[in-house]
Amino acid sequence: MENKKIKIGLIGLGTVGTGVYKTLKPFEDIEITKIGVKNINKPRNIENFDSSILTDDCYDVVNDPEIDIVCELIGGVQPAFDLIKTAIKNGKHIVTANKELLAKHGEELFNFAEKYNKVVLYEAAIAGGIPLIMPIKTIMAGNKISKIEAILNGTTNYILTKMDTLGASYQDVLKEAQELGYAETDPTGDVEGFDAAYKITTLATIAFKKRIKLDNVYREGITKIRSQDMKAANDLGYKIKLIASASIDENNNADVRVHPMLISQNTPLAHINYVTNAVRLSGHPIGDITLSGPGAGEFPTASSVVGDILAIAAEFGKTDYLLPMMRCRHEGNANCINIKDTVNKYYLSINAKNNKGVIGTIGKICAENDISLQSIVQRGVDEDNTANITVITELALEKNMRRAIEDFEKDKFINKVNSMIRVQV
Ligand code: HSE
Repeated sequence: MENKKIKIGLIGLGTVGTGVYKTLKPFEDIEITKIGVKNINKPRNIENFDSSILTDDCYDVVNDPEIDIVCELIGGVQPAFDLIKTAIKNGKHIVTANKELLAKHGEELFNFAEKYNKVVLYEAAIAGGIPLIMPIKTIMAGNKISKIEAILNGTTNYILTKMDTLGASYQDVLKEAQELGYAETDPTGDVEGFDAAYKITTLATIAFKKRIKLDNVYREGITKIRSQDMKAANDLGYKIKLIASASIDENNNADVRVHPMLISQNTPLAHINYVTNAVRLSGHPIGDITLSGPGAGEFPTASSVVGDILAIAAEFGKTDYLLPMMRCRHEGNANCINIKDTVNKYYLSINAKNNKGVIGTIGKICAENDISLQSIVQRGVDEDNTANITVITELALEKNMRRAIEDFEKDKFINKVNSMIRVQV
């Protein structure tokens, strides 16, 4: 083995970059020699930091002939993609936490890296500090994974947990989460489910060994969840969570989505609270496993980034083809099912005039659309003499459910379907 220090170039020195810098400091055979940042004069929360290694031109990092591994921590598609491609062309291996780039351009990125015989590792991109990609690719390699159910976004899990415990509205909790720095000023990426959709796209591709296209992933966020839904879910034995799920059958038909879901209080995901992430994998021969832990943050994410760096560094000088099990291999694309053709159980919250026969009307409209009811409960009458009615259906086709909702809203006694949330089966 060559006895030289392995040189790392960082692109980005924000929260995660700072954690990576501090975590790598004690490793004597690895050295961060250059860091690309936006503003070299910004004060850094690192003791005895030598700012001479900073540059405000990230191409200085990827073009530096001394650097062995480039670690990209700026996120977003551009300029990250160009920087990574330039680094690969210049002979560097890549560690990245960039879930958006992987979900949108993963195939192109991995093919490009393979052409230059370089590896791209991305443990930190999905569920932050939870060891997930490396276990799936190595110790679980003998499994056929057929189902994933996961909480992959800490911001939305924090908001839903607070709504649940305080009985507060989405807007009030979001405002508090923004003040405390848990939610971004523009929270769209998290609350509309984009972040979780990026993560489940890549996770399902790795787990199923079939490429999933981001455009085929159904996505719905948490902005319409009401405190009344939280209360009703609790009364019915559930919790509401933003669930990223994926399943695949023997015919290669995949169902990949992100949406709020009523999760039974008897299952582990219902008890994953605040910013914690969790991933439940079902496969053969392993059965069901649930991995949980911090999905973001300076040190948890640094743990995954540094693990990837050390995995690459450990093979330097020993082989010409590093980490074969960690390379991206998939056997074609999955056929993704449209959400309208999926079968689900549903929770509905309906506001109707407090008239005789309204519950019968709801049952009749469901029957006309081939939907059978599991339960129907009137949850009190409001001051305006309208009744709030909660329905749980049996398994039903999504397109039938959507048609039933249109029919409800045409009925003269039904005012509005306030919520339609899918229920864990
Ligand atoms: N914004 C993400 C979350 C963290 O709230 O979980 C980084 O992936």
